[in-house]
Amino acid sequence: MIVELLDTTIREGEQTANVSFTVDQKVEIVQLLDEFGVEFIELGHPAVSPDVRDAVDRISKLDIKANKLIHGRALPADIDDAVKYNVPWMGMFFGTSPLSLEHKFQIDQEEALKRIRDAVSYAKDKDLKVRFTAEDATRTDFGFLTDVFGVAEEAGADRFSIPDTVGTMSPGTIREFVTKICEVINIPLHVHCHNDYGLAAANTLAGMEAGALLGDVTINGLGERSGIAALAEVAIALKMLYKVENDWKLELLPKISRVVERASGVFNSENRPVVGMYAFTHKAGLHTRAVLKDPRTYEAFPPEVVDRNRHITIDKYSGHDAVRARLQDMNIQTTDEQLDEILTKIKSKPQKRRFSDIDLIEVADDVLDIDLRARVPLGVEAIIQMGLSSALYTTRITRRLMGFSQVKEVYEITGDYDVVVHVVANSIGDLNDFIEELRVSEGVEQTATHIILKGYEKDTD
Ligand code: COA
Ligand code: ZN
Repeated sequence: MIVELLDTTIREGEQTANVSFTVDQKVEIVQLLDEFGVEFIELGHPAVSPDVRDAVDRISKLDIKANKLIHGRALPADIDDAVKYNVPWMGMFFGTSPLSLEHKFQIDQEEALKRIRDAVSYAKDKDLKVRFTAEDATRTDFGFLTDVFGVAEEAGADRFSIPDTVGTMSPGTIREFVTKICEVINIPLHVHCHNDYGLAAANTLAGMEAGALLGDVTINGLGERSGIAALAEVAIALKMLYKVENDWKLELLPKISRVVERASGVFNSENRPVVGMYAFTHKAGLHTRAVLKDPRTYEAFPPEVVDRNRHITIDKYSGHDAVRARLQDMNIQTTDEQLDEILTKIKSKPQKRRFSDIDLIEVADDVLDIDLRARVPLGVEAIIQMGLSSALYTTRITRRLMGFSQVKEVYEITGDYDVVVHVVANSIGDLNDFIEELRVSEGVEQTATHIILKGYEKDTD
């Protein structure tokens, strides 16, 4: 199976409510996407605004492997832009559904065909490669859609794109739709699936199964309303489930996702596949017991595929094996009796939403009767509790923290502190620098740091 991806984070993704990237952010996103290996990158629609124009101008000059495509209407002015920025591909869209013809253009089918023919011919005369998008294709009368594609192909279109503009397809209906379209066209087909019913990734894959060569995606599934299919979800499924062979660098997916979370201000849910904080975290005792023996028992694919680590949370759902493993992770050894006692204490603690490493260390300190913090760590893991001057800062600080590469987890708590952050630093010096940076953040009133033991050298006592 040969497949391609077109990433449109900096065009469709920027159409997400309240999202606007700076030109520098777009450049960073494009470079990461190129390193990942997407085959096409949509640069933007220059007519939108001067800053989109600046971004298109900058990115059009970048030396990248991906094919560059400029988005625009079936109008000479937009086509001229693609020529002006010297980009090989024009992604030309034109609404073809009855709703588009009536409300957007107030024209009949005959006139639409004429406009499409003229625009594609105009672009071909300028030596552009044309991907013609029949906007709202999935709600377009099928007979008319074949006329549209016939006219566009005759005028020289190189590829077609069928957007499921309002996300009303299901995997079954899009499979049938794409199959029928592939029978009447002679050029490669793309699918662009919106997520209004939460089916974007499934529909994209179903469309590709049925013969579409390429799927449109955005990082974190950004886009109008509920967005479109997410790069990470589509890419991992294509590689792991469909066994697509290519050089996509899956290990970059979490990093790319984080960069876009920070740049967009739109953050993923914890349980989002692949990139969500909990995607590789196991909890129930029976699961963790099995996972510790062989992770395949409860993992669809290993976290290492995307350069992430497996986690096991400890709380009342835990069993002996999980607690022993977590303690061993922190270089804390116990006898069986001590472990029993620790587990009993964990299960009988007043239940709270999150039982953290600090809580575990406290229980272990208590049972083992030693001060576990008095060791010399090489690499440092730390839990930093932060008190904020007002709850108004919580979301902002949490989001900011998630942008730091040292930060493994951030969560909100109630009680004396408001936010807890789990940090991995290379040295105490690094950690101190990080804490200093936190301390001076607006809204941070106090911090308390607990160093946990990772790669310790020797006991000090
Ligand atoms: N192909 C050709 N012409 C199209 C078209 C298309 N796909 N879509 C719209 N048009 C035409 C309309 O018919 C209308 O023409 P008219 O002026 O002759 O009536 C014109 O484009 C749009 O009209 P209007 O909404 O008044 O334009 P505007 O100048 O206020 O704004 C944009 C145009 C493109 C700058 C503005 O809508 C914008 O910034 N859009 C963001 C990009 C966007 O909407 N993308 C959709 C992605 S799928
Ligand atoms: Zn779209």
